[in-house]
Amino acid sequence: RDSEGRTLAELAKRRGFFFPSNGVYGGVAGFYTYGPEGAALKRHLEDAWRDRFTVREGNREIEAPTVMPEAVFEASGHLDGFDDMLVECAECGESHRADHLIEDNTAIEDAEALPISEVEELIREHELVCPSCGAALAGEPVEEFNLMFETTIGPGSGQTGYMRPETAQGIFVEFPQLAEYARNQLPFGVTQIGPAYRNEISPRKGIIRVREFTQAELEQFVDPERDEPDLSRVSDVEVTLYPIENQREEGREYVTTTIGEAVADGTIASEWVAYYLGIAQEWYERVGIDMNRFRFRQHLPGERAHYASDCWDAEAELGGDWVEIAGFAYRGDYDLSKHAEHADQDFTVFEQYDEPITTERATVDPDMSYLGPEFGGKAAEIADALEALAERDRSAFDDETVSVELDDESYEVPTEKTGFSIEEVTESGEHVTPHVVEPSFGVGRTLYALFAHAYREDEVDGEERSYLSLAPEMAPTTVGVFPLMDRDGLGERARELASELRAAGLEVAYDDSGNIGRRYRRQDEVGTPFCVTVDYESLEDGTVTLRDRDSTTQVRVPIVQLVGVLDGLRGG
Ligand code: GAP
Repeated sequence: RDSEGRTLAELAKRRGFFFPSNGVYGGVAGFYTYGPEGAALKRHLEDAWRDRFTVREGNREIEAPTVMPEAVFEASGHLDGFDDMLVECAECGESHRADHLIEDNTAIEDAEALPISEVEELIREHELVCPSCGAALAGEPVEEFNLMFETTIGPGSGQTGYMRPETAQGIFVEFPQLAEYARNQLPFGVTQIGPAYRNEISPRKGIIRVREFTQAELEQFVDPERDEPDLSRVSDVEVTLYPIENQREEGREYVTTTIGEAVADGTIASEWVAYYLGIAQEWYERVGIDMNRFRFRQHLPGERAHYASDCWDAEAELGGDWVEIAGFAYRGDYDLSKHAEHADQDFTVFEQYDEPITTERATVDPDMSYLGPEFGGKAAEIADALEALAERDRSAFDDETVSVELDDESYEVPTEKTGFSIEEVTESGEHVTPHVVEPSFGVGRTLYALFAHAYREDEVDGEERSYLSLAPEMAPTTVGVFPLMDRDGLGERARELASELRAAGLEVAYDDSGNIGRRYRRQDEVGTPFCVTVDYESLEDGTVTLRDRDSTTQVRVPIVQLVGVLDGLRGG
């Protein structure tokens, strides 16, 4: 499995997909640069996400700052709760994630959920050693390490700020404006694609665990009592689920079912979460994830983030491991309530009823001065008890006296003195704190999964070749254009054709160096789905050869039809 990782890392670097940053200064772990091919692939992936989760869902996208003041993360819980378990090697000084050490070296799968004392005990029991220098780690303290990058805003002592660890908070803090923008109409969704930062203890596996990465997140705000997703759109979508019960019972693996069935039998508790799992399943297929190497896994209770009541991860199999590439969390009203409380602002939506609702409300006289000294200085408490009684049981006020129990004593109050009355109250709506359903995608991890799942090796004309079978919509380049040779006017015609195709909006790679077979291989390796060759016949009859990357078959196509044919093949 390591060899798959190495092959892909080598290809990614050599062909300009992605590689560790700052290499000339020795590099810093956890930072990657996307080269020209990778940046184009990433852009296409983000465009496809935007198309599906923003545009087609009728949501709106925002762009918030990446540095946010401390108060945001005090409220959101990240300052206190966004920690990983760190163990530092006394011998070499390297830091490691204690839960990963346990997961990598024992049969335990969810070490993150264990208390620190138990983690220290397991390190001792299994005689775990430092992966960097081999020294024993038993006896070293395990500590909570906060993953946020801290910074100072402004000169001098300034104000403490943090690089956002998730794009989501930039949406939550602006909820009052966004709700107003949505004209207070639930449900509505707000998306954001942008960088997030986590000071990971041990970044690893290339771009899978890095310290700066791109998230694509949707915050769907709903009224939990009234709003339902349109499940009919996804009820027939087939999914592979790995619910909690199956993870706990040995020998029980995945469930292949439909979204409709999974909701009906309660496997997925929230209809909104189910809806987005269905939408995501279709989207992953569209962008080219291998669905035989894909599943949705439910979080075990101890694994959930501090804000989530239920969460499912999209996982892709990569190099023999299951890797989380997205999370679908039911965040409830956690975030909006916390920000409302800490900022002392209104984070509710006023929902108008279809028609005003009139209710009766029983009240008592708030001024209790009529309760004279005979009540032994208990006037305020008796008044409260009367008020509660009026709300609970109106019939208690039917007789001449009303009796209340207080500290095992009974007090009789003349009913007419209580000012008991029934009022009619008419309300046009109510304030609701919306619940949040959050599909949260890691763009880099999704890109890596596409890259890994698209990688193929085969033999063409007796020669080994490797190629990326990327979906045409995702491929960094749509079409390679080559002259058979750069002479006799073939080069000019091919360069002209490349310009024409670019003008038609296609992404084109022009190449006239090396033999034609080599040029095909170069494009195959970066996943270019089509190549067009201008040959002598082209100069005579205005046709070119069009070659398909995966099958390597070639057909002749009139140049005048080329744009239409390519658009059709690309699904444009
Ligand atoms: N707002 C919810 C949230 O941030 P998360 O599960 O912590 O949830 C969402 O992150 C996604 O972001 C993950 O599924 C993963 O794809 C990506 N992600 C998280 N940490 C990452 C890291 N250190 N490097 C690369 N991607 C990461």
